Amino acid sequence: MVQAQSHPNSLAENLISIAPPASDQIIQFTHPELYRTSEWYTGHGEIAASGDGRSFEVTATYRLEAEVKLVDNLFDPTNPTLARAYQNRSRCVAIVDQTVDQLYGEALRSYFAEAQIPLELLVCRAWEADKTPDTVHHLLKFLGKDGCDVSRNEPVLVVGGGVLSDVAGLACALHNRRTPYIMVGTTVVAAIDAGPSPRTCTNGAEFKNSLGAYHPPVLTLVDRQFFRTLATGHVRNGMAEIVKMAITDDAVLFELLEQYGPELLTTHFATLPNQGPTPDATLAQIADQVIYRALFAYMKHEGTNMFETYQDRPHAYGHTWSPRFEPTAKLMHGHAVSIDMVFGATLAVEMGWLPPSDRERIIALCLALGLAVDHPILADLELMIAGQKNMRRKRGDGGLWAPLPTGIGSCDYAQDVAPDLLEAVVQRHQQICRELPNGGQGTEMYLSDLGLA
Ligand SMILES: NC(=O)c1ccc[n+]([C@@H]2O[C@H](COP(=O)([O-])OP(=O)(O)OC[C@H]3O[C@@H](n4cnc5c(N)ncnc54)[C@H](O)[C@@H]3O)[C@@H](O)[C@H]2O)c1
Repeated sequence: MVQAQSHPNSLAENLISIAPPASDQIIQFTHPELYRTSEWYTGHGEIAASGDGRSFEVTATYRLEAEVKLVDNLFDPTNPTLARAYQNRSRCVAIVDQTVDQLYGEALRSYFAEAQIPLELLVCRAWEADKTPDTVHHLLKFLGKDGCDVSRNEPVLVVGGGVLSDVAGLACALHNRRTPYIMVGTTVVAAIDAGPSPRTCTNGAEFKNSLGAYHPPVLTLVDRQFFRTLATGHVRNGMAEIVKMAITDDAVLFELLEQYGPELLTTHFATLPNQGPTPDATLAQIADQVIYRALFAYMKHEGTNMFETYQDRPHAYGHTWSPRFEPTAKLMHGHAVSIDMVFGATLAVEMGWLPPSDRERIIALCLALGLAVDHPILADLELMIAGQKNMRRKRGDGGLWAPLPTGIGSCDYAQDVAPDLLEAVVQRHQQICRELPNGGQGTEMYLSDLGLA
């Protein structure tokens, strides 16, 4: 029998004789395209030796190729968009909001049946109260081994509003550590804000949206035809987020809203016949322009700052004090945002950043859309200061980073708002709003107005 020869010292001797990489040795590493597992994600990096044989530094860059696209009549069998996305796969795994399933489930099922693509569909109730880790677990079960066993390179189709896009996006981020998804936002909020956003989340034990991951969809499809069946209050709610991007980034968008905003609201973005002066076909083109401009402005800042590494975020306008007063006053999110935006505009005027005439235009636009511009809760200074403190911590403790308008279509960031300034501005703001029709209140501004509380 031949005995294996052992050389107890050779490995150790070899290791000692190999010198550690020199300190200036930086190796750039690009993975061969041949071994690529994902259509949407690529990565490369550098590895730099310290030279002491005990440490090195790694720098890695992750690249995402995502698309956002306006489409018409997505579930019409003649629309090839979804069939193209799934035809080379053996099936489509979908998660669909319960209300959306009631309204559009039949069309969705017959679309895939006609395209001869098997559909594995989970209907999910996605109320704000369902935005919990339990719902995320439920979705993970559906995606996991005992469910559809979705591969890490198989895009899940998500169809619904902002609640579903947040929780289903998070489930996709967790399943296989990262599973791509295609988002079809069926509310205005989901179409132009939550849907394409990289921020996926669930509510945590104490705070809204506090648990999550940065995981944007690889494809976002926006079809305004879904808005036809929304309650008008939900359309208005979503319009506040469009106004936000118009004020901070896009003056043309603001002008479009000034001219056509009320007609877009009452026709649910030109999906219902218009009683106003603009012909339906023209309004349809305006609706597409408004949606496109709002999406582009938002994603220019949010989509390119995927991990919120930078705090210059115009889309945080209207979201500095409102997270604190929105739940206390039981406001619809869009109204809380518009109150915060107009209060911010008054602050910007007092700080000399914004001409009063621009603040008047902002107020006039919000009121024309039925969005609230004031609420007595602003006078609760303790709450406002606590809100500011929370926001400073959330934004990294380096400053408040409150976006405030410097004109229509531009903004800058306030780092500190002293309590006495805050108090003086609240008083000034409420004095201005007292003169407004209805004291600056909005239409269906409370959760209870839409049966949500
Ligand atoms: N991740 C982000 O960046 C981001 C941004 C903004 C908002 N959000 C989140 O989005 C959520 C709000 O989203 P939302 O306003 O879409 O609310 P939502 O998802 O609760 O939808 C509102 C209601 O409309 C129903 N619905 C959806 N589509 C419909 C349609 N086409 N016709 C009729 N009814 C329809 C839903 O079932 C629901 O009852 C909040 O939880 C908020 O935190 C996230």
